[in-house]
Amino acid sequence: PLPPPFQVPLPIPAVLKPVSASGGADRYEITQREASAEILPGVTTPLWTYGGTFPGPTIESRRGRPVTVTHRNELPVPTVVHLHGGRTPAASDGYPTDLVLPGGRQQHSTHMGHGSEHGMRDPRAVVTELTRDYTFPLDQRPTLLWYHDHRMDFTAPAIWRGLAGLHLVRDDAEDALGLPAGPRELPLMIADRAFAADGSLAYPALDPTLRVRPGVREPYLAGVLGDVILVNGAPWPVHEVDAARYRLRILNASNARHYELEAVTGDGRRLDLVQIGADQGLLAAPVTHRLLPIAPAERYDVVIDFSGVPTGSLVRVLNRLGSGRTGDVMAFRVARAAADDSRIPARLSTDLPEWRRSDAVRVRDFSFRAGQMHAGHGWLIGGLPFDPARADVTTRLGDVEVWRLVADVHHPVHLHLAGFRVLSRSGRAPLAHDAGLKDTVSLRPGEAVEIITRFDGYRGRYLFHCHNAEHEDMGMMANLEII
Ligand code: C2O
Ligand code: CU
Repeated sequence: PLPPPFQVPLPIPAVLKPVSASGGADRYEITQREASAEILPGVTTPLWTYGGTFPGPTIESRRGRPVTVTHRNELPVPTVVHLHGGRTPAASDGYPTDLVLPGGRQQHSTHMGHGSEHGMRDPRAVVTELTRDYTFPLDQRPTLLWYHDHRMDFTAPAIWRGLAGLHLVRDDAEDALGLPAGPRELPLMIADRAFAADGSLAYPALDPTLRVRPGVREPYLAGVLGDVILVNGAPWPVHEVDAARYRLRILNASNARHYELEAVTGDGRRLDLVQIGADQGLLAAPVTHRLLPIAPAERYDVVIDFSGVPTGSLVRVLNRLGSGRTGDVMAFRVARAAADDSRIPARLSTDLPEWRRSDAVRVRDFSFRAGQMHAGHGWLIGGLPFDPARADVTTRLGDVEVWRLVADVHHPVHLHLAGFRVLSRSGRAPLAHDAGLKDTVSLRPGEAVEIITRFDGYRGRYLFHCHNAEHEDMGMMANLEII
């Protein structure tokens, strides 16, 4: 029985306390373990979690202050942690075969040395441990990052079961802008899920143990969609707000679902969604949207103003791409009039990289297309499925490149390490929501999108891939070697 919309209160994921904050760095510990939650009323949903909750705990960091997170794996399968959008040295970037083996109550010896059992293809690449320290320098523009599982061949079902959490990076310059803050800043992790009658999550994996055989059943090869929209883990929640400005830190953590968000008042008025930031931090200047498309893994930093809305009434956040229940996302109940000294400065940031085409030392072309679908594979980049042993792109640290990405169907393309700007869409100017510095760009069906970036930060082996998580698991990923 699905709950009626806009009844369940919006949960806010707890902010994780560091186990130590001395020596100029913050140290955290997260145990990955099975847990359960009452997501739909009256039934219990078993989950895989970071620290017992879905979403996992939020980590709050300051720009340039290093963070070490010790992950301990008490789940029945190996895991990999990736901090999405992080400017992270390769050793902590969560390469899909850099496994944290199941420890805790598991008999870990039975899981070691059987590469094929973990879906690994290149034994030379494998680093295996029971706990692992991930170190994040966070020397990057402040923004909303997220951490999620990234295990070879099994990322999609692991995220689906609950392995996702938020990581906010802040700095003094952003704090000084006067944007809505405190209880008027809300993280919103949007993710769709499907449930069986007993409350368990339904996922069409070929191998429900998620250990041996990757891939999903035939009708789901394009990606797995759920019929329940969760925000911060609650179905179609509602949140009580003041009649004031709020800053919404929106993440689409869905495996495959795209949304087009709008905020509609009780009398049918659409509220402006004033975008102030993209995946990789603040825009130069605000951009106003009425409809905001958001692809899997994208983040939008948006200010919404409830001050003109009659108290007691509801502002519904709707998904124009959905139908029936997937057309609803969440709602805000405007509870009371309130003072508001927040503002949206006309100039938000001055440090956005402005690479020009003439800065690029090379142009590369990549197609994102379906090939022959079978045995858990078939989504291809440049005609090839992912192979950890192959260097698909080798580039020099500091080089500026233009990448031309062409798509058959919808593919949200994500680069690790390097934030990029969108240069063009099918020969035309980028769209309004392409503004700012991004790490994920939505390729629409049939489109050719040009991006420009500078491979900056660290040398080593990184990835780029489609962030439709099923496409990713079924081969749509490639190596990016920075030398
Ligand atoms: Cu959100 Cu390669 O990941
Ligand atoms: Cu894709």
